[in-house]
Amino acid sequence: MLQQLEELKSKALRELESIDNIKELDSWRVHYLGKKSSLTTILRGLATLSLNERKTVGARANQVKTNLEDSLGQKEQALREAQLAAGTEKEVIDISLPGRPLPIGRLHPITQTLNEIGDIFTSMGFQIVEGPDVEWDYYNFEALNIPKEHPARDTMSTSWVETNRGERPMLLRTHTTAVTARVIEGMEPPIRVIEPGKVYRYEASDATHVPMFHQIDGLAVDKGITMADLKGTLYEFARRFFGEERKVRFRCDYFPFVEPGVEMAIECLVCNGKGCRLCGNSGWIEILGAGMTHPQVLERGGIDPEVYQSFAFGIGIERLPMLRYGIDDVRLFFSSDLRFLRQF
Ligand code: DAH
Repeated sequence: MLQQLEELKSKALRELESIDNIKELDSWRVHYLGKKSSLTTILRGLATLSLNERKTVGARANQVKTNLEDSLGQKEQALREAQLAAGTEKEVIDISLPGRPLPIGRLHPITQTLNEIGDIFTSMGFQIVEGPDVEWDYYNFEALNIPKEHPARDTMSTSWVETNRGERPMLLRTHTTAVTARVIEGMEPPIRVIEPGKVYRYEASDATHVPMFHQIDGLAVDKGITMADLKGTLYEFARRFFGEERKVRFRCDYFPFVEPGVEMAIECLVCNGKGCRLCGNSGWIEILGAGMTHPQVLERGGIDPEVYQSFAFGIGIERLPMLRYGIDDVRLFFSSDLRFLRQF
């Protein structure tokens, strides 16, 4: 019996030696250590032996069993390590390969323009304020000298908001000058503010019109403010936005809420004043309306026009990047076309 055990052990170890994969190893385990193996049979048969034999054979059989189990464990670990080494050799990681860049977002060109103009005016001491897009008829029109039957209402096709408030009509503001009316009513002089925001006109879209666009209005109220302050401020804005060399021109214009009213134009960026299609052969491009705030507008908002003087201006935003980058269709800004937007 002992002889049989020794043979079993050396045969098992020899076979184990030559095994080189996990599957064979498993068959080996079943064969030598499984329920039906000779070793198990010997261990089970111990009871039929004499006491003496049982002691020696039993002890030896258990040693062999432990020995085989240990060898199995070592072999298994060796095989797994070899497998892992072979695997990593095949799939080398090339750490010099550049990573995939994360897409970086950017601000919309209109937002960039609003920010740039905001920076120019805040550096001159203006404060940024905002008002509601859905506005009372009062601030958009009445407070600005544009009563019910005034022809100026026809120049800004209005989107009315249906309300059950009857007497107090609401609309989508047609210009950010509505915020100027609120500021005059709500703030104490001295005032220097700019008012950026969206404005709405009830119009069909084409290359130069969209029903929603952006403006920045501005307002300064203080003692002794004159037209020279208005011109100085807007010259400085044009110089910083369009460059030192760009010529600027003021001409008379009419807006119900200023007196006198002016328009400011810059020399055409395409033809430098010679006249081309963009400037309608005039050599000039209008970029904003402005004027000395009408005394009635100040008075209505609770500011005494005998004590305080004021200038105001309103800039259309979309035209500025259009002029700067030669964009010929305003709808591009709102089409969400990434091929267009990624250029800014
Ligand atoms: N609100 C005018 C418009 O949308 C522009 C404007 C003109 C604003 C003169 C002003 C101003 O503040 O003083 O056409």
